[in-house]
Amino acid sequence: MQALSSNAVSISTVSNSTVKQTLFDVLSQFVITYDLDWDQPLEPETTCIADLGLSSVDFIQLVLAIESAFGQKFGFQDLLMQQGEYIEDVTVQKLEDFITGKLNNPNKDRADQVAVAVSSLPSDQRLQASQITTFKSMIAERFAELNNSPNNSSINRPDKNPRAIFVLAPPRSGSTLLRIILAGSSQLFSPPELHLLSYATLAQRKAALEGEATQQLLQGTIRAIAQIQNCSVETAEQTMALCEQNNLTTEDFYRLLQSWLDDRILVDKTPTYAFSLDTLTKAEQTFDAPIYIHLVRHPYGMIRSYEESKLERIIPIANVRHFSTRELAELTWLTSHDNILSFLQDIPLNRQHRLHYEDLVRDPYTSVRRLCQALKIDFCPDMLDPYGDMKQRMTDGGRKVSDMSGDLKFYLHSEIDASAADRWKQFHQVNFLSKSASNLANAFGYEMAD
Ligand code: A3P
Repeated sequence: MQALSSNAVSISTVSNSTVKQTLFDVLSQFVITYDLDWDQPLEPETTCIADLGLSSVDFIQLVLAIESAFGQKFGFQDLLMQQGEYIEDVTVQKLEDFITGKLNNPNKDRADQVAVAVSSLPSDQRLQASQITTFKSMIAERFAELNNSPNNSSINRPDKNPRAIFVLAPPRSGSTLLRIILAGSSQLFSPPELHLLSYATLAQRKAALEGEATQQLLQGTIRAIAQIQNCSVETAEQTMALCEQNNLTTEDFYRLLQSWLDDRILVDKTPTYAFSLDTLTKAEQTFDAPIYIHLVRHPYGMIRSYEESKLERIIPIANVRHFSTRELAELTWLTSHDNILSFLQDIPLNRQHRLHYEDLVRDPYTSVRRLCQALKIDFCPDMLDPYGDMKQRMTDGGRKVSDMSGDLKFYLHSEIDASAADRWKQFHQVNFLSKSASNLANAFGYEMAD
């Protein structure tokens, strides 16, 4: 995949026929590169998903190929999101119209804010305390298994690993955006999700994640090695395989990574850590005075995002049949924040910082400046340009962008997008939160109606 390139068409001279031709060139090349099962001419009514057979991950690749050809970001979120819902498919004609519209008027097609009347679910149809307890113990049990190893050496080791920074948040809280913002600082090393702390050894980690739905989560460490060692993804894979064969503990693997970083501080943003208090405790046991960023998002925003992303397929721990997707999302929000808050109770205040996703996207300058103070690093304007140098920010995925371990929706935005903070309000029709989640949301400063 090319980076946004100097071969890109000259925007100042672009005409409708240039858009059509460039788009057809990109699509034709894409069909060949990705060996798509499509041997007919591309017509305006050809659809990307039903006809060309693109998966949502391929679609991200296509978006980047189009942006590369035109030499600019378009914010494809605006095309894919209509009246608060993701559209099912898109024709070549729609792509062309969208690009032409964006070139002529960059603010056209911003997702429109449609106010929706909100009603309330009766309390007996909301999650009950007993269901919350059941979910929490299921999660705790699952993580106890993962982190249980006879050679788990991390406990009470006298010399701890150097300081690290952890982003603690449930999934769908804007954590990928935050980790990429942090990757803009030269004092930090902030790779894609590492998925290490939950496991005692690398072998356990591999066994837990190597299934088809989750293998993408193994990519973060490989991308991190390739970046630090300035080597190819293939070489990084060999290094990782060697570490796995030697069955390094995750603690030793962190130490190895950190030994390559000189003075840069490792940032680990992996949302599943917050599923388990034991995992969070391991951060304190393993690292010297880590700093924790507690990222908070409105529960209805996180829940809507979780439902759209069908996250339960990717996070095996959340693959629990007893609950609907929406209930799982709420349980994940509640359990993660409960765990984080219990854990942070014993952490000195100068090693923790709470950040609201809504503040981050509405006022990134102030939020990131404050965050830098808390992390005791210099503020650097590059941090506010998460769509800058993809290699430095490790948003290139190594081989292809969709290998990036984290939220691929990041690629559909073109900037830190303030409108994402309130998007859920467009289709939020029912108040359904349990008492516990509602109270916690209030405690975080979100005004909750019954
Ligand atoms: P939505 O699904 O509501 O759009 P995480 O990385 O923790 O999984 O969070 C995913 C959420 O972050 C998604 O929310 C995604 O759109 C949002 N996000 C990603 N990049 C963003 C950007 N540039 N500006 C605003 N929000 C962004």
